[in-house]
Amino acid sequence: MSKLLLLPGDGIGPEVCAQVRRVAERLANHIVIDERPFGGISLDTLGTPLTDETLETAKASDAVLMGAVGGPKWDGVPRHLRAETGLLKLRAGMQVFANLRPAICFSALADASTLKREVVEGLDLMIVRELTGGVYFGQPRFIETLPDGQRRAVDTQVYTTFEIERIARVAFELARKRRNKVHSAEKSNVMETGQLWREVVSDLHKREYADVELAHILADNAAMQIVKNPRQFDVLVTDNLFGDILSDEAAQLTGSLGMLPSAALGVAGSPGLYEPIHGSAPDIAGQGLANPLAAILSFEMALRWSLGRIDLADKLGAAVARTLDSGARTRDIGGTLTTSQMGDAVLAEL
Ligand code: NAD
Ligand code: IPM
Ligand code: MN
Repeated sequence: MSKLLLLPGDGIGPEVCAQVRRVAERLANHIVIDERPFGGISLDTLGTPLTDETLETAKASDAVLMGAVGGPKWDGVPRHLRAETGLLKLRAGMQVFANLRPAICFSALADASTLKREVVEGLDLMIVRELTGGVYFGQPRFIETLPDGQRRAVDTQVYTTFEIERIARVAFELARKRRNKVHSAEKSNVMETGQLWREVVSDLHKREYADVELAHILADNAAMQIVKNPRQFDVLVTDNLFGDILSDEAAQLTGSLGMLPSAALGVAGSPGLYEPIHGSAPDIAGQGLANPLAAILSFEMALRWSLGRIDLADKLGAAVARTLDSGARTRDIGGTLTTSQMGDAVLAEL
């Protein structure tokens, strides 16, 4: 038996996770599902966005699947109690440093993107985002009031050789199983961390991965190239902040933010954290309008990367493709299905 921990969270999180549960129960009877509050709902009921017990349960699971956290209700709470801070603590506590964010344009959805079909059709881009370092975690960070009454805020962008090398290694290993090409994006032209990033990636490439094609690209140019000609990319490795931004951008190539899943992985054998890359979508929460496919595809990634069931992952991926081929669409991709009707459509294809 495998243990899956569901953390539905806030906003549309519970709505999309309910569909994951239905799919998991249909597909995989070897999985035991546990569920716990996380994020804003956990703050409201348990006094903190991530309890020690939830973190321990997560670490003792085979895989953790999260919906989304945060929302306007909690935007005013102190930083350490924010739902998003709970998510950062979960990522750090599980030590899931490698975030795989695949942007795949299903051919049935090529017209749902705001970009032209000929630009996005056939897109299969893997963003590898460093997830437990950089400016998200760097110290010092604070807001202070200066003697003249001005306020001053500081965040710290910081990376070590070790952190850069281990994420670059993930990117090179993935590329070898794909189209053998890695783009590494940073701002080495203006940032010290960018310069070190480029040096470490180059060194590792020379030492161990010379067979993989490597291109360095400045992150601003990468943002432009992603909309100009996204299919030039195979694997794109980048830091925590650039990866956050570039993956939302890439999501739109696939038709909707509601389509992009992710897997956050640590060292081999440790549990992975799976999450749709979208947020809690307060503008549509509670209305049954959310697209559950990013969450369902995150479960597909959990089957593949943590639960040892590549066969079931393939089966689920194919069922989602057939679901889209059959014309099933939630509102974000141009249709009228509700969240649970989209769940029904996937179950019908299974
Ligand atoms: P968001 O991703 O929640 O929403 C952006 C837009 O995309 C909205 O118009 C929303 O309706 C739409 N959208 C998102 N997911 C969708 C889906 N599955 N189906 C259909 N449409 C979808 O981003 P935001 O509005 O900037 O953030 C809202 C809150 O979510 C914030 O509190 C933010 O911190 C949080 N957030 C959480 C996560 C996470 O938990 N992993 C990720 C991003 C943002
Ligand atoms: C994401 C989200 C998170 C991030 C937030 C909610 C902490 O935007 O997973 O993309 O910035 O990493
Ligand atoms: Mn994001």
